[in-house]
Amino acid sequence: MALRTTPEVGGMGHSIKRKEDPRFIRGRGTYVDDVQLPGMLYLDIVRSPHAHAKIIKIDTAKAMAVPGVLAVITGQDLAKYNLHWMPTLMSDTQMVLPVEKVMYQAQEVAGVLATSRYAAADGAAAVQVEYEPLPVVIDPKKALEPGAPVLRTDKKDKKDNHIWHWEWGDRAATDRAFSEAAVTVKEDIYLPRIHVASIETCGCVAHFDKVLDKLTVWMTTQAPHAIRTVFALVAGHVGLAEHKIRIISPDIGGGFGGKVPVYPGYVIAVAASVLTGKPVKWIEDRMENLQADSFARDYHITAELAAKKDGTLTALRIKTLADHGYTDAAANPSKFPAGLFHVCTGSYDLKAAHVEVDGVYTNKPPGGIAYRCSFRVTEAVHTIERMVDLMAHQLGVDPAEFRMKNFVKPEQFPYKSALGWEYDSGNYGAALTKAMDMIGYADLRREQAEKRKRGQLMGIGISSFTEIVGAGPSKHFDILGLKMFDSCEIRIHPTGKAIARFGTKSQGQGHETTYAQILAEELGIPAQDIQVEEGDTDTAPYGLGTYASRSTPVAGAAAAVAARKVRDKARKIAAYLLEAAEDDLVWEPGKFSVKGAPNKSKTIQDIAFAAYTNHPQGMEAGLEAVSYYDPPNLTYPFGSYICVVDVDSGTGEVKVRRFVAIDDCGNIINPMIVQGQVHGGLTMGLAPALFEEISYDEIGNIRGGSFIDYLLPTAMETPKWETGHTVTPSPHHPLGAKGVGESATVGAPAAIANAVVDALWHLGVRHIDIPITPAKVWKLLREKGVTE
Ligand code: CDP
Repeated sequence: MALRTTPEVGGMGHSIKRKEDPRFIRGRGTYVDDVQLPGMLYLDIVRSPHAHAKIIKIDTAKAMAVPGVLAVITGQDLAKYNLHWMPTLMSDTQMVLPVEKVMYQAQEVAGVLATSRYAAADGAAAVQVEYEPLPVVIDPKKALEPGAPVLRTDKKDKKDNHIWHWEWGDRAATDRAFSEAAVTVKEDIYLPRIHVASIETCGCVAHFDKVLDKLTVWMTTQAPHAIRTVFALVAGHVGLAEHKIRIISPDIGGGFGGKVPVYPGYVIAVAASVLTGKPVKWIEDRMENLQADSFARDYHITAELAAKKDGTLTALRIKTLADHGYTDAAANPSKFPAGLFHVCTGSYDLKAAHVEVDGVYTNKPPGGIAYRCSFRVTEAVHTIERMVDLMAHQLGVDPAEFRMKNFVKPEQFPYKSALGWEYDSGNYGAALTKAMDMIGYADLRREQAEKRKRGQLMGIGISSFTEIVGAGPSKHFDILGLKMFDSCEIRIHPTGKAIARFGTKSQGQGHETTYAQILAEELGIPAQDIQVEEGDTDTAPYGLGTYASRSTPVAGAAAAVAARKVRDKARKIAAYLLEAAEDDLVWEPGKFSVKGAPNKSKTIQDIAFAAYTNHPQGMEAGLEAVSYYDPPNLTYPFGSYICVVDVDSGTGEVKVRRFVAIDDCGNIINPMIVQGQVHGGLTMGLAPALFEEISYDEIGNIRGGSFIDYLLPTAMETPKWETGHTVTPSPHHPLGAKGVGESATVGAPAAIANAVVDALWHLGVRHIDIPITPAKVWKLLREKGVTE
C-alpha cells in the first residue's frame, strides 16, 4: 500500500495543505497524533492481565498521587451515565469499561486522565486492581460443549456461548448432489486470528467545546459519518445530538478494516472531554493495538467438495465455527452475520452449495474485522481454492487444467451463483492463461518433476479467486440500518476550479488522485484544478466510508454521476451562451461546441463563469451537483495468481521463489495506484500464509502480542511480485471499473498454501493450515519419513 499519494504516483499529490492549519503544530502534521490543542489532556488505559476475572476492587489512591494525574475513570463512573456498555456494529453489546468482570486479556479496565502523556502512563501503572480469576474459554469448540462456563453473564437469558446460527443455500439439493457424487473431498481448514498491524495505531483527540456546545473528534476512522451517527445514538441521552458532533478523520496510516469499529478508548476520551470541557488525546501504543483490537479471521471451517467422475464439480458443503471473542463486534452488513462468506463457490460453476456458520463467544478480544477484504471473502476464497486444489490432486489432474474445466465461462455472465450472487462479468480462463504464460507453467512443471526425482521439494500453487466488492446495493446492504450507498458532492467555482467532497475516506489508497482523475475525465477540468476532500463530517456529504474495496465501485461511481449532472446543467448554460439548441451541442472533454461549427464553442471554464455571472433567467445560479450512489449490484473483480515455492527439507522453511499475479478490476483509473495496491496486498497475503498468527494459551494469554512474536514480512522475506492485468469491464458501473484494493490480500494466501501442499503431496501431505511456518513443515516432513 502506498501510504500517501505523491506527485510521482498520480500528479495530484496531497491536496489538503494541513501544514497551514494552526491545529497542527508539526510541519508534516496530518495524523491524529499530530493534533495539538491548548490545554489538552492525555488518556492512558489500565488493561487486564486476566482473560476472565471478576473485578473485586479498583484502588486509585496511588494513581491520583502521581503529579499531573487528574482523574481515574472506571466503569462505575461511566455507569452513572449509562455509558459503560455500547452497541457493536453487529447489534451485540461491548463494554466500554467493566463494572463486574473482564472478558479478555488486555481489556480496558480504567482510564487515567493527566496533563501529560507521561503522567497518564505513570498513573495507569499505579492503579491497583484486585481480580478473582474465572474459568477461561479459549477454544470455540469447547465453548459450545455442554457444561462450558457461560461467558456473557450480562445477558440474563443466555445459557450458552452460542451467538447465532446462519445458513445459506439449498441444503437438500446439496446433500443430494453429494450422495450422487463419484468423488468427494473433505478438509478441516483453520484460518487463524490475525491482526491488521497498520503502521498507525488507533487514537483520537476529543474536544467538547462547552461554549459552542459542540464535540469535535479527530479520530482514526474509516467511516466518519457512520461514527457520528453511532455517537449520537449512544450518547444522545447525555446531550450529544448529531448536529453537535463533528468527526474529522485526517490522514490515516493504514486502516484495513481495523479502523471501522468503535473501540472503548474513543468513547472514554469523548466522555472525559465532555466531563472536563478540555480536549483529550488517546493514542494506543503498539502492544495495546496488537493485543486489544483490530483482529480478523478465526474461522474453523469444515469443507466438502463433490465432483463427477470426469472432474466436473457439482456441489460444495461448508460448516464453520466463527470465533468472535467475547462480543460480536464484526463490521459486517446487518443481513449477513458471516459477511460475504457465501461467495464461497468462487470462480467455479457449482450447481449446488450450502453453507452454515455458527458464531461463538470465547475469552478473546472482539474479532471479525474485514481485514483488507470484503467481509469474509478471504475466508471464502481460501476455502474454495484449497478445496479445488485438493480435488484436482485427488483426481490426478493438473490444477490449472482442472480450474479451466470448472470455471464459470465468459458467456455465462451475468452469472447467478448457487448461493444467489449475480456475478457482473468475468473471464477467468483469460486471467489464468496469462498467468501461466507469464510464469512459464509447463516448464515449471517439468522442472518440478525432475527435482522430485532428486528428492528436492518444489511446489506450484494456483489461486483463481473471485472477489465481491462495492457494498452495496442498499436493498441488501446496511450497517446498523444505515444503507450502504456512497456520495460525491462537486462544486465548480466561477473561475473553473472545483472542489469535490466524498463520503469515503482514503487510508493511503490515493483517492485524492484517482477521484480527481475521474472528475477530470468527466468534466474536462484538469485534475490539478480539482481539490478532493474526505473525512470531515461537517463538510463532506454523508457516506458509509472506505473498507471492503467499496470506494471505486460506489463513491467512484458517485463522482461520475455527479459530474454528469454538472455536465447536464453546463449543456443548458452553453446552449444559452451559444444561442443554440441543447441537442445541437457536442461534448468533448472540456467544451461544448455547436454541431458542424466547431469554432462556436464554450469551455467548461467559460460555462462555470457564466453560471455565476450570466446564467439564463429562470435557471438557478451556480454549477454544482451531488450524487448519493446506490449501486445496482456489487462488482466482482478476479484474478489468477501462480506461486512457486522451494521447501527446505532440512529446516522446513518455505521460500517463495516466484509469484505472478494477474488481476482484473475492470477499467483501471490509475495503473500505478492499482499496481501499488496489488503489491501491498500481495505482501499482506504473504504475511498470514507464512508468518502471522495471534493465538492464546489455555488461560487466555496472548501469543503474538508484540512485533517480536507477531512476524510481519520484511523486505528480506518478500519476493519480487510479478504483476499484470486483464480488463473485463463491469457492465453496470458508470466507468466500467471494479474495486481492487483488497484483491491481492484475498487471493494470495491460497496460492502460497497450494504451492506448499503441491510440493509435499507425493509424501502424503493433503493440507497445512496457514501460517505455514518452518516448524509445522519440519514436523510434517519428519512424520512422513523425510530425514533431511
Ligand atoms: O475502497 P478502497 O479505496 O480501499 O479500494 P478501491 O476502490 O479498490 O480503490 C483503491 C485505489 O485504487 C483507489 O485509489 C482507486 O481509485 C484505485 N483504483 C483504480 O485506479 N482503478 C480501479 N479499477 C479500481 C481502483
